[in-house]
Amino acid sequence: MSDHAFPSNKESWESAVDRTLKRFPERKASFTTSSDLEIDRLYHPEENEAYEEKLGYPGEYPYTRGIQPTMYRSRLWTMRQYAGFGSASETNKRFRYLLEEGQTGLSVAFDLPTQIGYDSDDIMAEGEVGKVGVAIDSLHDMEQLLDEIPLDKVSTSMTINAPASVLLCMYLAVGEKQGVPLEELTGTIQNDILKEYIARGTYIYPPKPSMRLITNIFEYCQQYVPKFNTISISGYHIREAGSTAVQEVAFTLANGMAYVDAALEAGLDIDTFAPRLAFFFNAHNHFFEEVAKFRAARRIWARIMKEHYQAKSEKSWKLRFHTQTGGSTLTAQQPDNNVVRVTMQALAAVLGGTQSLHTNSRDEALSLPTEESARIALRTQQIIANESGVADTADPLGGSFYVESLTDRIEEEVNKYLDQIHEIGGAVKAVEEGFMQREIQRTAYETQKKIENEEEIIVGLNQYKLDEEVNPDLLKVDEALEASQIKSLETTRKERDQDAVDRALKALREQTKDSSVNLIPYILQAVKVYATVGEICHVLRDEFGEYTGM
Ligand code: 3HC
Repeated sequence: MSDHAFPSNKESWESAVDRTLKRFPERKASFTTSSDLEIDRLYHPEENEAYEEKLGYPGEYPYTRGIQPTMYRSRLWTMRQYAGFGSASETNKRFRYLLEEGQTGLSVAFDLPTQIGYDSDDIMAEGEVGKVGVAIDSLHDMEQLLDEIPLDKVSTSMTINAPASVLLCMYLAVGEKQGVPLEELTGTIQNDILKEYIARGTYIYPPKPSMRLITNIFEYCQQYVPKFNTISISGYHIREAGSTAVQEVAFTLANGMAYVDAALEAGLDIDTFAPRLAFFFNAHNHFFEEVAKFRAARRIWARIMKEHYQAKSEKSWKLRFHTQTGGSTLTAQQPDNNVVRVTMQALAAVLGGTQSLHTNSRDEALSLPTEESARIALRTQQIIANESGVADTADPLGGSFYVESLTDRIEEEVNKYLDQIHEIGGAVKAVEEGFMQREIQRTAYETQKKIENEEEIIVGLNQYKLDEEVNPDLLKVDEALEASQIKSLETTRKERDQDAVDRALKALREQTKDSSVNLIPYILQAVKVYATVGEICHVLRDEFGEYTGM
């Protein structure tokens, strides 16, 4: 990708600030340090060509310094803790607890059977119901999951990929039952199948039908649910699988380009769907590299969208992202040390300009988080936001010789990978050929060797160890849950109008045969009559086949 100067100037930034303050006045009348020194909205070298060219202003193309003119002075990032376990009503309790404790967005973790399209009573679900997330079989469970949560006020992220269309439709159906117009619903559906093939594994269908379902969601939401983010293009799991920061950005943006290409091939208009593309990155160790990584990612994506795809709307150029601190950096040893790790990683995400953030709990290398651990994780964000002062000016590390140099270097290395993937024929081909997987495996192996030979120190794991570890109290998922979930599913099946379910599933099956048909309305009809995740996914399995791996 070629190198381009990025014209931007102070005047356009200042007028953007004025516009923003009308919708988001700044959080405080004035921001000062503990010594009462006034903190400016932005620190920028006056009339310095080099900086003007490379750096620009926050909220100004190429957004190196952030996507909003006033960043967190007007609105903090969304504190959005990933949560879900056991039954819908248990998870609803945790959601309401976290909202009462001050989190500002919801994030749903589904159990594995839901994520790969099996009902709780399927043989494939045995032993996994409610284990790593909440069990959702039908609209009945979704109604319980969101009970007393005002969907016109709270935005909800759903970490669901292969069955994303089914869970999205359940969410829309609950919104309608709450009387919230579809166009008012806000949230994000992860809906990113390529990283599932590369790193996470919860795929069902082959690439082609998967891309059809993904772009069906783009098309349906741009028409009926315009405030909903239709995909969260994820680097998080790629990093968790052992990639470097450069590979995380490169493979994520390459996947992003594949989704843009698929949407364009489906006849969608780039400036209509692109503003609702969102991203999701990891906040890992090596503090300054992480900060530089986010800044480089924004600048690269802005140029790809403006110059490569010729998108005209600046909303199409802005890379908006959620961050989760690095789960794979947590140690089972001395779990309280993880609070320190998460704090530094969260700080890197904030200094990197994240829009939304999940902080891991100290016990998550051992189990799903207890309520106390989840609260400490949320408090970590609240302390950074309210006590550290880092949210009081835009892009505080901007201008640091180290951070700017790292930002440039990461940009350079990412572009080399993007050119390589372009040579292979794009991300889908690269995934089918195993290119990204091989790159990640190589890096993961090298990293593991460094830890084992103590070249890389992990406190408590390979140095500074304790003779004996005392395990903290851990969350236990009630073993009886699986049986009660199956019972509840049987009741739903008994009470529903089976003819309506059969008709809806039949109509869906018929429409799968014409690839130009948007399947969302048919899936929506099926969920509304309480067809289950498994039943709908099995119809699609029959018609699309299952993918058995790259
Ligand atoms: N100035 C002006 N406007 C501002 C502003 C500011 N400073 N800050 C925010 N705003 C505006 C935004 O523009 C937006 O308005 P718009 O929709 O009209 O543009 C509104 O305020 C809300 O702000 P954001 O969109 O920035 O914040 P959200 O939190 O709503 O959205 C997101 C953030 C990244 C775009 C979204 O996609 C999101 O929430 N993603 C979350 C994804 C997530 O939680 N994933 C979890 C996955 S867990 C997982 O996979 C790991 C597991 O497998 C282990």
